[in-house]
Amino acid sequence: MAAIAVLYFHSNEHTLHDQLSKVYGPVFSIYLGFTPTVVVRGLKHLKEVLVTRGVDFADRPHDRLSESITGGRGIIAVKYGPAWKEHRRFTLSTLRNFGLGKKSMEERIFEESQYLIQELKKNKDSLYDPHFVLDNTVSNIICSIVFGRRYNYDESTFRNVLNLVHEHLKLATGFWAQLYNAFGFVKYLPLPHQRMFRNVKTVFGFLGEVLEEHKRSRVSGQPRDYIDYYLEEMDKVGDGPKLSFNTENLFMCMVDLFVAGTETTSSTLEWSLLYMMTFPDIQEKCHEEIDKIRGDRDHLDYEDRLRMPYTQAVLQEVQRFTSIVPLGIAHAPIKDMELNGYTIPKGTLIITDLSSVHYDESQWKYPHEFNPENFLNKDGELEKVDSFLPFSAGPRVCLGENLARMEIFLFFTTMLTHFEFHWPDPKSSPDLTPIFGISQAPKRFNMRLVSRT
Ligand code: HEM
Repeated sequence: MAAIAVLYFHSNEHTLHDQLSKVYGPVFSIYLGFTPTVVVRGLKHLKEVLVTRGVDFADRPHDRLSESITGGRGIIAVKYGPAWKEHRRFTLSTLRNFGLGKKSMEERIFEESQYLIQELKKNKDSLYDPHFVLDNTVSNIICSIVFGRRYNYDESTFRNVLNLVHEHLKLATGFWAQLYNAFGFVKYLPLPHQRMFRNVKTVFGFLGEVLEEHKRSRVSGQPRDYIDYYLEEMDKVGDGPKLSFNTENLFMCMVDLFVAGTETTSSTLEWSLLYMMTFPDIQEKCHEEIDKIRGDRDHLDYEDRLRMPYTQAVLQEVQRFTSIVPLGIAHAPIKDMELNGYTIPKGTLIITDLSSVHYDESQWKYPHEFNPENFLNKDGELEKVDSFLPFSAGPRVCLGENLARMEIFLFFTTMLTHFEFHWPDPKSSPDLTPIFGISQAPKRFNMRLVSRT
């Protein structure tokens, strides 16, 4: 296999992978700094790694930075094994208990969307940057599930915490993070990566206070939220089979859900507004479908999406075209594995290049253009497309997929029910270049809101 030294610190990794795979095929090896890494591209091989032999590739690689931050706890960075399985299963079932797929989760999102609309209304007719309010809105959903509370849009401590999380997700793929991963001794040097650790300390301090407050105020047998359910589980299991349940793991699950549940979904909403302003005709068609299905009701229900193929196609196209988590989260084989004729040793860092299937010319009608028709058949019905993998697939598939889909649909349609979104400067058009990071956020932008009601 080819072995080329690479450091990722800008947004052209997709083009770089494209060029390399033209020469070396869909599975090739690079040195990420000093770490031998295998890049997997294209539907056939991604399906093999994520689904067909998903369990064999369901481990996470050794990563010095992530280990020094998470201690190998929580869900996202945890090695494949009983602790990961127990936490994943517990978290999925607790999310379901909070009504995912049932009315109550929808009600939570609907309630939050009322705050969002009030806030947007205050800013209609002026230039408005929606970044923070969307971030806060989305984060409030995961906060209400995990901590049992929401944060007002003017709470500066919360705003600061969200900003630090975003900064961390950018820094964690940057040069200094890669240097830290390559050379352990860098930890002690006064270099820019220290900023990451300072940010982590502040975010952990904030979440630590939430956890302590829960321990003080909880009433056994009356769980209010995810934290309480977990504490109940700890009481219940004692020294039973779920030995992995402890306060340290609970804390890291809180961190994982808070971080994973915010930026990805809020960026998707920001991108969706940017694309609506770039293509006003598509925005208009969404307005028409929303109005038709809503009739004289105040708002749409999640169930209504089944009768709204165009809006669903638009939202999926936003996810395809922007590939919010372009390289997924690194996997690793749990034992030595064969892939495409190569032997890949246990523990090797594997990059699942999810974005590669999103622009694959053999898979899409319009691979390189933003076009909702990519998801619609000739009768205008929504088509299921195998090469659509924004949440990855298989045993490690995004744990928040259903929640994220519900939030994206309900927040997007509520915003479009109330407003038209306009790009404020007729002499320019929106900048659709992403900021590179674990997840790809758009650059900050201003928009003009015109009330529809
Ligand atoms: C549009 C929004 C989202 C996108 C595009 C997204 C995407 C992803 C992707 C690509 C992965 C990596 C899967 C793999 O390792 O193969 C992932 C993992 C994960 N996501 Fe999401 N995600 C989103 C929203 C959320 C939300 C709302 C939550 C919170 C409930 C969440 C929680 C997680 C967790 C805990 C994992 C780790 C799963 C594991 O290691 O077992 N995500 N996500």
